Order: sequence, then C-alpha cells, then structure tokens
Amino acid sequence: MLSNKYKTALVTGASSGIGEAVVRLLSKKGYKVTALARRKSKLIKLKKETGCKSVIMDIRNTKEIEKLKKIKFDVFINNAGLGRGFDKIYKTKAVDIATTIDTNVQAFLQLLRCIVPGMVKRKKGHIINIGSIAGLYPLSSSVYGGSKGAVHLINQNLRLELSGTGIRCTEINPGRVDTEFFDVAFDDKKDAMNMKKGLNMLKASDIADSILFAIECPAHVNVSAIEITPTEQAPGGVKIEKLK
Ligand SMILES: NC(=O)c1ccc[n+]([C@@H]2O[C@H](COP(=O)([O-])OP(=O)(O)OC[C@H]3O[C@@H](n4cnc5c(N)ncnc54)[C@H](OP(=O)(O)O)[C@@H]3O)[C@@H](O)[C@H]2O)c1
Repeated sequence: MLSNKYKTALVTGASSGIGEAVVRLLSKKGYKVTALARRKSKLIKLKKETGCKSVIMDIRNTKEIEKLKKIKFDVFINNAGLGRGFDKIYKTKAVDIATTIDTNVQAFLQLLRCIVPGMVKRKKGHIINIGSIAGLYPLSSSVYGGSKGAVHLINQNLRLELSGTGIRCTEINPGRVDTEFFDVAFDDKKDAMNMKKGLNMLKASDIADSILFAIECPAHVNVSAIEITPTEQAPGGVKIEKLK
C-alpha cells in the first residue's frame, strides 16, 4: 500500500539558504528533522531555534556519509551544493571544477546510494533533489550547468529505478534565489552583487514552500519536477556576444 505518512527528514546543506528554510518549515510542520552541513555554529543556532538534530559533515567524505545508512529517513532533501566555477570555463580554475563536480554530482550520488536502500526496504520515502534552471537551459555556465544537468538526468533515472517501490522522487529547479550561493560562487564581491541586482529574487522560503507542496501531495501523486523562477527571470533565448 502506498504511504506518505512521513515523520522524519534529512536535509543536506542546512546551514544556510534553501536547506535552512526547509529545516525551519518541516520542523514547524512537526517533522523530526536532521540538519546536515559543515558549519557547526550555524547548525547549533538552527538546532536551538527549531529543535532539529544536527550532523556536522562534509558530504564529499564518502566514508563519513556511510553513517547515515543507520538512520531511518522518510524524506531526503538532497540540497547541499555550490557554484564554484559559475563563470565561463575559460575563466575557471581547475580546483573549482573539482569542488563543484565533487559536491553537486559525486557526493549527491553517494548520498543517494546511502539513503535510498533503507527507503526501498521500508517501501516508503520521498527524495527531493535540488537541481537548477541552469541544468535545464544554457546559462553560460558549463561547469555549474553541467553539474545540475546531471542532477536533472539522475532524477529522471531515479524515477524509473524506483517505480513500483512506493518511493517518490521530485526534482526542484529554481531560478535565482537570494541565499549565500553567489557569495560562495564568486571570489569578487562585485560579481556576487551583480547576480543579485536588477530583479526581485526568489526567497529561500519560496523553495521550501514548493518542497512542502510536493511532500504533502496524496500518496498516489508524484510531483516529478517543479521549475520555479522569479517573475522577472525567464531562462533560455539567444545571446549574441561579439569578440573583443
Ligand atoms: N541560490 C540560487 O540562486 C540557486 C538556484 C538554483 C539552485 N540552487 C541550488 O540550491 C541548493 C542550495 O543552495 P543555496 O542557494 O541555499 O546556497 P547556500 O546558502 O550557499 O547553501 C548551500 C548549502 O550547502 C552546504 N554545503 C556546501 N558544500 C557542502 C559540503 N561539501 N558538505 C556539506 N554541506 C555542504 C552549505 O553548508 P556548509 O558550507 O556549512 O557546509 C550550505 O548549507 C544548491 O544545490 C544550489 O545549487 C540555488
């Protein structure tokens, strides 16, 4: 029998932005939430304010994340990610390509490997994968866009792999959200500021609301994907740049 009587949730990337907003919303809704990230002080504060559990962990540590196998999670918000190398590839450092792919693709998959088997065994669970419009449309960012394009296809494959198990799988593809994302992505503060100018950005809580909508749908409904952008942002189109 299909069930969406979820009680527990794991949120990666919970120390700021979208992850933090999801922890706050799900805790308010009565879920027992485990918040995971590297910054201890941020998670201690979140724990005090919401009653969530905290796990200080770098998701790129494949051995460490094995510990998560022992915990029963009904909902998994696969959210931790970054955009180092957000710029054009001919301006990107080798280390930034490695950091982005290791976090957004490698660790993202390793976490699924650790969390999904328990859900399959219990025949219950909901995986929320955080992608981006950068994974659906060309935005002049091959490294970050490529990593989120991988998330898009991973989610679609996962849907097929999990079909018949009772586990639901949702991809959330946001446009620009006002979080620490751009401060982490760019070394130059001006570049980060430029990304935040000129439009009314989404709030992290807007994304948390869309995630809750997917989780709270009746058990026979799988919201496969949500694309959500600021009203003033439309992805796609043709951009023409002349050589200087
Ligand atoms: N903001 C946007 O415009 C936007 C748009 C589309 C998609 N997204 C996606 O949304 C997700 C959340 O980003 P955000 O916008 O909320 O940015 P954010 O505020 O910078 O949050 C990123 C979170 O990921 C965590 N994280 C990064 N690397 C980690 C690692 N190795 N191990 C554990 N945790 C790690 C960070 O925590 P610690 O540093 O404490 O570890 C932080 O909590 C990302 O996947 C991002 O690609 C963002």
